[in-house]
Amino acid sequence: MKRNLGPVNALYPSLTTIVGAIVDGKPNFLAIAHVGIMNHGQPQYLSFGISKSHYSNRGIVEHGEFSVCLPGEDMVVETDYVGLVSGKNTDKSKVFDLFQGELAHAPLIQGCPVCMECRLKQVVDFNTHDVFIGEIVATHAEETVLHQNGKIDISRVRPLLFDMASVKYWSLGAEVAPCWNVGKQLKTTRRGKNLAE
Ligand SMILES: Cc1cc2nc3c(=O)[nH]c(=O)nc-3n(C[C@H](O)[C@H](O)[C@H](O)COP(=O)(O)O)c2cc1C
Repeated sequence: MKRNLGPVNALYPSLTTIVGAIVDGKPNFLAIAHVGIMNHGQPQYLSFGISKSHYSNRGIVEHGEFSVCLPGEDMVVETDYVGLVSGKNTDKSKVFDLFQGELAHAPLIQGCPVCMECRLKQVVDFNTHDVFIGEIVATHAEETVLHQNGKIDISRVRPLLFDMASVKYWSLGAEVAPCWNVGKQLKTTRRGKNLAE
């Protein structure tokens, strides 16, 4: 039997990211765990909501550029830190070693195995949050987290998953089954039979 919990957002765990922007001439970073994949195809868009009370928003809007990096489990302390303190009263520009990509205002974090540079496409004005939609311009990944075919091996990234109910970071579990594949077996059963047949 299921209990109705009311309007609880149950879309966890989510991926913990670090969003970077240039604010007041300095790199600033914050933890963001509410990131959406807007589409699959070219160009690629992602989205996330940042509370209007945060410091980062102004820099993203001013320069129209930002970074989204994926910290590994080994970066949990730094990730949590940039999610605890605000650039309003703390200089977070020295927390990470940085590298330069294609965009001038998308500070990229050396220690993160995967980093994306994004160009701001749109800001959706919610009551409490600015929802930023960005186009991914370039993605940088450590050779050590890549498969031989050049695709990212998520098991080697060891991403930090965030869960709101426990307010804890979790790690990735084991692979379950091949996608767009394992479901094929249902096609030949009564449950999966094509109604048109
Ligand atoms: C794991 C984690 C996830 C977070 N996700 C979000 C988020 O999705 N949106 C948001 O507005 N704040 C989020 N925060 C809070 C901000 O990271 C935090 O308030 C930060 O200090 C704001 O920094 P800034 O004021 O320098 O921009 C998160 C914090 C943590 C620790």
